[in-house]
Amino acid sequence: MNYKIALIKGDGIGPEVVGEAVKVMDAVGKKYGHTFTYVDVLMGGCAIDTVGKSYPDGTAEVCRACDAVLLGAVGGPKWGHSTDPEKRPETALLSIRKDLGLYANLRPAALRPALAEACPLKKETANKGIDLMIVRELTGGIYFGKRERYQTEDKGEEAADRMAYSELEIERIGRRAFELARLRRKKLASVDKANVLETSSLWRQVMHRLAQEYSDVQYEDVLVDNAAMQLVRDPGQFDVVVTENMFGDILSDEASMITGSIGLLPSASIGDTAPGLYEPIHGSAPDIAGQDKANPIATILSVAMMFRYSFRLSQEAAAIERAVDAVLNAGWRTADIAAPGQQAVGTIRMGELIREKI
Ligand code: IPM
Ligand code: MG
Repeated sequence: MNYKIALIKGDGIGPEVVGEAVKVMDAVGKKYGHTFTYVDVLMGGCAIDTVGKSYPDGTAEVCRACDAVLLGAVGGPKWGHSTDPEKRPETALLSIRKDLGLYANLRPAALRPALAEACPLKKETANKGIDLMIVRELTGGIYFGKRERYQTEDKGEEAADRMAYSELEIERIGRRAFELARLRRKKLASVDKANVLETSSLWRQVMHRLAQEYSDVQYEDVLVDNAAMQLVRDPGQFDVVVTENMFGDILSDEASMITGSIGLLPSASIGDTAPGLYEPIHGSAPDIAGQDKANPIATILSVAMMFRYSFRLSQEAAAIERAVDAVLNAGWRTADIAAPGQQAVGTIRMGELIREKI
């Protein structure tokens, strides 16, 4: 098969980590008989610098004509402070998610045995293992609601962000989460704030309806404040966690941190028909950009997710994951995951080591 892949290399370490991921993809293609054609797509801070806006016209169309999108990272302090949304890199991220209908964001957080010492939690907690998948709703809620600023009579300026969820939006993300739980350990925690928010009350109502349909999945409701606490107290209790956009944004950062290795974590954003978008969950790390220091593993594992979820190439996906584990088990580390005193390799060498194991 031939697959066409849009590459949004983006800013900071983005180009370097995507570069290694592409070489890994080509190595897998060679071994399993696939070819990949790449289309470079300009987006983020680099697009602001060259064409004056972070999300150039036609970006979504180019991506839609591809089978999948691989994104490095966008943003950085250089473009951080503009009040013009077109000149903010984040705008591009939110727009592409919305335009491609990528409503389901899968963020796995697993503790790899070789890196157990990097886990910041107590040893007895880490020893129980961490292997959870956050399913974050990605195109609704407060990040896409109406934003306002207006003058009040007696309290100065006021700002408001609207948070709305429809049954349709809740049901489709809920189904994704239940389906995923079926493929894993058959446990689903739905995180909300139903003791306060109306959106959460509707969320819970829809989830309960689905829970009856998916009665083979063990379901529970967890309030978001409690979820934040449980994630550091006993993360081993979670399998799949489904939640709305903003809660998922926050909890997925927390979940990545407890694995001790944010440089290893991939993500997938998928919809019903459009190409999926795959990206490492770490940012653009401008402080180490261009120095051959960045960890390419999260991007390489994002390719594994692309193979699994967009192309249904599970053998190929597993080959990448096995290669990464083999390299880590052999003791190879980039600087971000090296223990004190442990020798680290650079971005390019790490990519090469992984390719050798394919
Ligand atoms: C993420 C990021 C983005 C988000 C920002 C940069 C808009 O934090 O992917 O989690 O909130 O979705
Ligand atoms: Mg975030």
